[in-house]
Order: sequence, then structure tokens, then C-alpha cells
Amino acid sequence: MAMVCLSDFEAYAKKYLPKIAWDFFAAGADDCSTRDENILAYKRIRFRPRMLRDVSVMDIRTKLLGTEISFPVGIAPTGFHQLAWPDGEKSTARAAKAMNTCYIASTYSTCTLEEISAAAPGGLRWFQLYIHRNRAVSQQLVQRAEALGFQGLVLTADLPYTGKRRDDVRNGFRLPPHMTLKNLEGAFEVCKMSLLDPSVTWNDIYWLRSLTHLPIIIKGILTKEDAELAVRHGVQGIIVSNHGGRQLDGGPATIDALVEVVEAVQGRVEVYLDGGIRKGSDVLKALALGAKCVFIGRPALWGLAYKGEEGLQDVLRILQDEFRLSMALAG
Ligand code: FNR
Repeated sequence: MAMVCLSDFEAYAKKYLPKIAWDFFAAGADDCSTRDENILAYKRIRFRPRMLRDVSVMDIRTKLLGTEISFPVGIAPTGFHQLAWPDGEKSTARAAKAMNTCYIASTYSTCTLEEISAAAPGGLRWFQLYIHRNRAVSQQLVQRAEALGFQGLVLTADLPYTGKRRDDVRNGFRLPPHMTLKNLEGAFEVCKMSLLDPSVTWNDIYWLRSLTHLPIIIKGILTKEDAELAVRHGVQGIIVSNHGGRQLDGGPATIDALVEVVEAVQGRVEVYLDGGIRKGSDVLKALALGAKCVFIGRPALWGLAYKGEEGLQDVLRILQDEFRLSMALAG
């Protein structure tokens, strides 16, 4: 099967992954209207292309908080990569390093932070944190990540509770017995995910600040009000995200929310976006509307499901080629 675009990887993953894993990756909350809107919204945006502008040489590199990456697409934090590929997050880390881009490793990884670091020494990685009720556990994770050379701390703000994903409920989704949330091992006995702290507020940014020198990036912002609060609380970056439509159903597509966030921030911090990026032209639209970089969630999992590290590199390379071509054709 020729893998030409990201949908080819989606079709492969749907065909070959166990249904319970596919359903978990694909899930959106409730009737998935926000998940689907993330993608539909790109189709409503049209370019105003310009011609005869000498596009023979193009530079698609960018910088994330000062660190150069090869093109403006990184890997969003997603949990449980071993459901897609036996080497799990180790493969993700290797692919990101090979493509010289940023990988945000999830709290809910099925490999330890140490294994992820060792798999791709020197790669650009940020650590994504969910704050747990037992603050000592979160503190220890942040400090471990910093000691291992992770270069940013991403606080996910949109998951005080897990959204209602109907297929996961129907399937009774849980990790197979041989997989664990490696970074939380020993921290909890039962049902680790119900131990997220729903009482987190903006003040907890100050608590995080006291734990680490790492730049703090807040993920899950969708409004100008929260963007302003994020800047005022001293974060270095904002990821406009609705968690791939897996949390509040009925919220806006991220590409539609981007504009008000960018306008509110006025260049004071870097603004990124995730959700619904499936083509190079989607990347270009997000950049044109003010994002510094975008991140992919599900497409990275499809790449892993196809061929592990190699498959994820294929996904990134296709996006890179499509992005470069879109830039040229848009002048
Ligand atoms: C996620 N997402 C997510 N976000 C986060 O901050 N921590 C996490 O552990 C996870 N886990 C996770 C698992 C799966 C299977 C999915 C699909 C998503 C959300 C993720 O970072 C990102 O916001 C969305 O995936 C972006 O949307 P697309 O690219 O999947 O459309």
C-alpha cells in the first residue's frame, strides 16, 4: 500500500489495530462534534495565493523558545504509545529526534521518562504534566524531567476530569495487563487516572514555577480571557488546544479559537496549536493565522501503528513535504 497522505496511515491503523485501541485513539467526547469540527474548520479557510514570488529557495525551520526545529510541526502529548507499537514512546522519541522536531512526552506514557531520554539522547523534548491530587508525585515528575534534560514543562489545563468518550465506556477500555503508566508506577495502587486534581487553578502556575527552572507552556487554552491570564501568570507559551475534541464537546475548533488568542497575546509569549492538522496546508493556515508551530496527536499514533519509529518519520516527512509545497504554491 502506497502511503501518500496522513489519511492512508489512518486507514491502516483502523484496519490493523485491535478495535479497543483504535477506538481509544479515535475517540472524541460525547457525539464528537468538536473533534470533527477541528478538521472541518480547515476546509472552510481559503488562501489568497500570490504569484511570481521566486519560491526556488525556502526555509521552513523555526524556533521553539529559542531552540531550532526543522519545520513547524511537533508531536503533541498522547498517552499509551505501546498500544500502537511495542516500543511505545521510545520509538516516538527516536522519530522526533531523527526529524529534528519537538516531542512532548505525556504523563501517561507507557515508557519511563528515563527510557524515553535514553532512546534519543539530545532530542528536543518537553514533558506534559497532569497535576495529581498527591502533589508530591507531580513534583517528583517535574524534577525528574528537568534532571533528564527535558526542555519545557507543558501543563495540560483542560482535563480536571476525563471527558465522556462513549466507545471507551462501551468497550470498558483499560490498558492490557502488560502495559502500565510507567512514570506513575508505585505512586498509586488503583485507578490512577481518577486521581487527577480537579481543584487546580491559575495559582498553581506559581507552585509549578517554584519547582522548576523550565519554561512553562500551558495547553488547552481557547479564549482571549484565558490567554491573558496565562500571560499574566508568567507562562512562556500557550498551546491552543481542545484535547483533540476529547474533553468538552461543543467547544470551538482550535483553528477558529487561534485568532482571538493570538490577538490577546500580542507577541508576549509564543502561541502554538494542536487539533485537526492532517495536511501541510493545514499547517500553513495555522501559521498564517499566527501560530508559531503546530503539534499532531492522532497522526503520530497512526504512524507508530504503521511501522513504529519509521512510520512516524514517514508521517512527519509527508507533512513536511506538503507544508513546503503549500508554502511555494501560496507564494
Ligand atoms: C491525547 N491528548 C493528550 N493530551 C495531553 O495533554 N496529555 C495526554 O496524555 C493526552 N493523551 C491523548 C491520547 C490520545 C489517544 C489522543 C488522541 C489525544 C491530546 C493531544 O495532546 C492533542 O491535544 C490532540 O490529540 C490534538 O488533536 P489531533 O492532532 O489528534 O487531531
